[in-house]
Amino acid sequence: MLLEIKDLNTRYGPIHALKGVNLSVNEGEMVTLIGNNGAGKTTLLNTLTGLVHAASGSVIFEGRDITNKPAHQIMRGGINMVPEGRQVFPSLTVEENLRLGAYLIDKPREIERGYESVYDLFPRLRERRRQNAGTLSGGEQQMLAIGRAMMRTPKVLLLDEPSLGLAPNLIMNIFEVLERIHRDGMTILLIEQNANLALDAADRGYVLETGRIVLEGKCSDLKRDPAVKKAYLGG
Ligand SMILES: Nc1ncnc2c1ncn2[C@@H]1O[C@H](COP(=O)(O)OP(=O)(O)O)[C@@H](O)[C@H]1O
Ligand SMILES: [Mg+2]
Repeated sequence: MLLEIKDLNTRYGPIHALKGVNLSVNEGEMVTLIGNNGAGKTTLLNTLTGLVHAASGSVIFEGRDITNKPAHQIMRGGINMVPEGRQVFPSLTVEENLRLGAYLIDKPREIERGYESVYDLFPRLRERRRQNAGTLSGGEQQMLAIGRAMMRTPKVLLLDEPSLGLAPNLIMNIFEVLERIHRDGMTILLIEQNANLALDAADRGYVLETGRIVLEGKCSDLKRDPAVKKAYLGG
């Protein structure tokens, strides 16, 4: 097991946002967590990356307890996140944004290799490398956010709703790239509200409802589950 979340509870004052969540990701797997707005998806990612404090429970990564460790230390260990809403720096160029994803790399050669592998995944970014990120479309900004997280090859890539607010053709483009990264061996935890897409792309899935995992299983089984169909796949 690469990543294991055990009985995790997170609170924002009186709001009990995660209520005993258990979830695991094996090396090489693509796992998805689906759930509606407000279910606690972002809270889960932020708790496991050290941005939000866990009230109880544990996060185990490569056999080590990383619960409530500082976020920079968790990232250094190889857990990279593509945050909700992309959060690229609009007044920096595409390449400067990518450079930020490589701040832990000190060899110029490796940084160059990082750029090349990102431009290989997203040729649109190569064409726009000197352009300010603020001038990119939403889909291109999402590509940039993913590229930034890939600059220093992570051990696990976390994505928070990469499809949110994007046109269908760009969503397809981004999901094709995620599947390619996965085929090449990357371990991925994909958070999505778009259950159709996520259950097609991933191997295994979890359904989060108001802070609790209510269902889990192989995506092929979840897609046939009547409750999942009714609540998440439009009947
Ligand atoms: N910083 C915060 N302070 C207080 N409540 C929050 C905060 N962030 C999220 N919440 C609440 O926690 C619950 C889960 O939110 P969130 O994790 O953002 O859900 P999701 O990502 O699934 O939409 C919601 O009820 C939300 O209002
Ligand atoms: Mg969210």
